[in-house]
Amino acid sequence: MNPPATETDVVVIGAGAAGMMCAIEAGRRGRRVSVIDHARAPGEKIRISGGGRCNFTNRDASPHNYLSANPSFCISALKRFPAQAFITEVERRGIAYHEKTLGQLFCDGSSRQIVDLLTDGLSDVGAELRLSTSIRDIEKTGNGFLVTTDRGSLACRSLVVASGGKSIPKMGATGFGYDTASRFGLNIVPTRPGLVPLTLDPALLERLAPLAGVAVEARARHGRIAFEEGLLFTHRGLSGPAILQISSYWHEGDEIELALAPHLDVFAQLRDARAANGKQAAASLLSTILPKRLAHAIGERETGPARLADLSDKALRRLDAAVNGWKIKPAGSEGYRTAEVTLGGVDTADLDSRSMQARSVPGLYFIGEVVDVTGWLGGYNFQWAWSSGWVAGQFV
Ligand code: FDA
Repeated sequence: MNPPATETDVVVIGAGAAGMMCAIEAGRRGRRVSVIDHARAPGEKIRISGGGRCNFTNRDASPHNYLSANPSFCISALKRFPAQAFITEVERRGIAYHEKTLGQLFCDGSSRQIVDLLTDGLSDVGAELRLSTSIRDIEKTGNGFLVTTDRGSLACRSLVVASGGKSIPKMGATGFGYDTASRFGLNIVPTRPGLVPLTLDPALLERLAPLAGVAVEARARHGRIAFEEGLLFTHRGLSGPAILQISSYWHEGDEIELALAPHLDVFAQLRDARAANGKQAAASLLSTILPKRLAHAIGERETGPARLADLSDKALRRLDAAVNGWKIKPAGSEGYRTAEVTLGGVDTADLDSRSMQARSVPGLYFIGEVVDVTGWLGGYNFQWAWSSGWVAGQFV
């Protein structure tokens, strides 16, 4: 006979950023909480994030920085637990941090400090952390849920799914949260990798092969959205922050437009150089504004060895467009293997934005990345995890 289920108030599935934040808040309200994770350690994505220094929030995080089928959904949680609220927790703990760029806040030391902040927070409120534990089954009961694991069962009134997205399966990411939502009748907005390098078709890749390793400050545009950050040519295609950002807006078959010297009027520069020193080739002028290999590749491709003096305005405009209006159709993305986040997820139409509770299943909550709310690169995704976890913690 199976041992009787342990009675508790709240079970949180997933000891990541969102799950631990929610558990701490529920514990502060006097709830008995158990956090279950199949991983051996909590907060593994926090640990590896931001190159080991965790970009734990963005000072300027606002709803405008998030993608979702319902862009208004995140307003309530971000307003009630904004970036400053998490910064206050970090400061109270004495964790030194710095702003790197564009409001992005990183630990001065190791990202483990953030993991410790959360695990100590769990201990302080007496929340139980069950690691290396697999969920076998979840059943709805008369007044809550029965969660069966390979290490016994738990009966709870509130169940919080904080199991994250599909990115980096090597680290234990699964489709568990989406499957659970579907089982309880919630809709799933189709998922796809976000904040991910883009790949190129073999012909273009061959042409760009000599550029692998070249980095440039660029603007990447998709329709009306554009990001100005670093761009990196790789052996497989394009990467760097500007590309990761635009990848979240890109769909297969779409074109993106790159400006490799976004603040320069390249046509005017070429025209002036033609007047001043017409003997030089376009590539040599371009190499004053772009990395040499890149300048050479563009100059060679567009005008060959021709001297500037022999180039018409039309040819100069073509060069300008090659630098600042370069249209590329990526072949695909590197996929979940390297994506930082998963776009799509539990449909926000099925959740209450104040509590993150499923509208049709009282007591069932979804928080963090599993929900169809995805932030830009730069600390926005952790902020969503903190905010959504915090609000659910006030209701469970
Ligand atoms: P998260 O993925 O953190 O946690 C989910 C937990 O659920 C995991 O512990 C997992 O083991 C567990 N789990 C999954 N399935 C389970 C199952 N079936 N049973 C039990 N447990 C299960 N964001 C940011 O803002 N700043 C940054 O610097 C970075 N950097 C970064 C680097 C890299 C390499 C990646 C991959 C991602 C980032 N991110 C980031 C994104 C950020 O890590 C991500 O958005 C949050 O971790 C999401 O928090 P969650 O708590 O929702 O999921």
